[in-house]
Amino acid sequence: MAFPEHRPRRLRRTEALRRLARETRVEPADLIYPLFCVAGHGQTQPVESMPRVNRYSVDRLAAEAKEIQDLGLGGVILFGIPDEKDAVGSGAYARDGIVQQAARAIKDATPDLLVIADVCLCEYTDHGHCGVYEAGEVRNDETLPLLARTSVELARAGCDVVAPSDMMDGRVGAIRSALDAEGFDETSILSYAAKYASAFYGPFRDAAESTPQSGDRRGYQMDPANGREALLEIELDLSEGADLIMVKPAMPYLDVIRAAREISPVPVLAYQVSGEYSMLHAAIERGWLDEDRVIEESLVAIRRAGADRVISYFAKDFARRVRG
Ligand code: PBG
Repeated sequence: MAFPEHRPRRLRRTEALRRLARETRVEPADLIYPLFCVAGHGQTQPVESMPRVNRYSVDRLAAEAKEIQDLGLGGVILFGIPDEKDAVGSGAYARDGIVQQAARAIKDATPDLLVIADVCLCEYTDHGHCGVYEAGEVRNDETLPLLARTSVELARAGCDVVAPSDMMDGRVGAIRSALDAEGFDETSILSYAAKYASAFYGPFRDAAESTPQSGDRRGYQMDPANGREALLEIELDLSEGADLIMVKPAMPYLDVIRAAREISPVPVLAYQVSGEYSMLHAAIERGWLDEDRVIEESLVAIRRAGADRVISYFAKDFARRVRG
């Protein structure tokens, strides 16, 4: 191949030609919107570190769900902030826990909207760790039954997909057995297979009040330095029955998304996390980055790397713009 026979600029001359040559598209249906649910009534609480993101009480979710459905988004992923926390995160697996209530309210209002529920204990434990915490350590095997119970209660509340984000070993298998034993064999598992111990979760922890009281999550979440280890995590989760897998965060880990895409027979999701959102927003607000273009480019890049679907706090704004 050589110039002047080849002139790549030929296909860049007009928007119609660029559209003809375009390899990757992002549509609202590719995007999943995170929703934070809080106790109380009539609550729409802005999250300070995440402009335009709110925490809603359950009674406010029906309207929110309808708007998300009308925008054509692919679904929602739910996070809960309970009124009370304890050592073992009971709020996560309570039958009328905050996310269980939220899922029921959303399924009542919009039965066809896809509802994913994050499965983790960190928002529900007083120590803020993702599992049972003893002597400065998160106990893996003791945590598994609690995650399994949480998943069963979320399935009972009508969630289509449960998404464990705790990074305990063996949790996908434990959740699958518990769901099947309780008759929820049709509930899917989206595993946060390659979830890194990332500083980019900072704003989320403000929103979800889930910062560990002591220590950090490096004893269970992955070391940001490791790419090949992600493949081991993915293989294990697939062998335990994961229906979908996720890489998180997204933009700083595009190589991991690509590697996941190459080995995964199941859909690959990527989570454009809170810090990615807040970082872009901060620059947008200062006029340093162009809002529409940078949002779209960030999503296209994540899709191009290999993510089939993207969880993003930009989902609603992106859909509003493309739908005019
Ligand atoms: C729960 C969980 C976290 C996120 C998703 N699920 C926080 C964490 O692991 O500390 C982060 C999402 C985001 O930053 O947007 N474990």
